Amino acid sequence: MAPLFRDAIPDDLSPLAELARATFIATYAHTFAPGDLEAHLEAKLSDACVAGWIADDRVLLAVGDDGALLGFAQIAAAQPEGFAGLPRPGDIALQRLYVSDTARGRGIGASLIASVLAAAPADADVYLDVWVENLGAQRLYARHGFGIVGKKVFETKSGINAGDDLVMVRRAQGQAGSRAGRPTSEGSASLRSGCLAR
Ligand SMILES: CC(C)(COP(=O)(O)OP(=O)(O)OC[C@H]1O[C@@H](n2cnc3c(N)ncnc32)[C@H](O)[C@@H]1OP(=O)(O)O)[C@@H](O)C(=O)NCCC(=O)NCCS
Repeated sequence: MAPLFRDAIPDDLSPLAELARATFIATYAHTFAPGDLEAHLEAKLSDACVAGWIADDRVLLAVGDDGALLGFAQIAAAQPEGFAGLPRPGDIALQRLYVSDTARGRGIGASLIASVLAAAPADADVYLDVWVENLGAQRLYARHGFGIVGKKVFETKSGINAGDDLVMVRRAQGQAGSRAGRPTSEGSASLRSGCLAR
């Protein structure tokens, strides 16, 4: 059966944090120098961080028939420092999109993105960042109207590079999306960011 989609509540903390950490480790662990992965998990994917997402952001869950968590999308206000300085006030970020490795290729990621975009304000650009080598995710995002607008350094504790991220944006769909002064320079805007996402 198709998954149920609903917003996360505080009771979802434990399975959400476990899925987030397991997916991050499976996808990116091999890119980190020794010690940096643990530091990243503690700084960005601890239970306390995930509780903060539930409290302060929007976390859309995909849940299976048996109640198991299959995937999630985390949506927040887009912080300029997290996306090569490009977002403007009112823009939003698809901060994370993770689907359990046992549930991939069934359209869950696409459904989560579609829900996020459908709920986005008409005058908001939607930003995300994605590892330069994550070509599958980049294809998925491109199919949903995202284009590459910049690049940023992915910070690690030791400073040893774990692979840079591309910044992608789905431009606002409403008329206000053409508001004057919106950044249009595509390319290699690069900024060392204190906000690690993916
Ligand atoms: C990227 C991700 C969310 C896609 O979820 P999904 O539910 O499998 O996506 P869908 O079934 O809707 O679409 C499948 C598409 O996802 C992309 N994809 C990326 N990695 C994939 C993977 N490991 N398995 C299957 N599809 C993957 C591909 O574009 C694929 O389509 P295509 O290869 O036929 O062109 C999921 O693979 C995942 O959680 N990966 C690990 C974390 C991650 O990379 N997140 C995104 C970067 S921030």
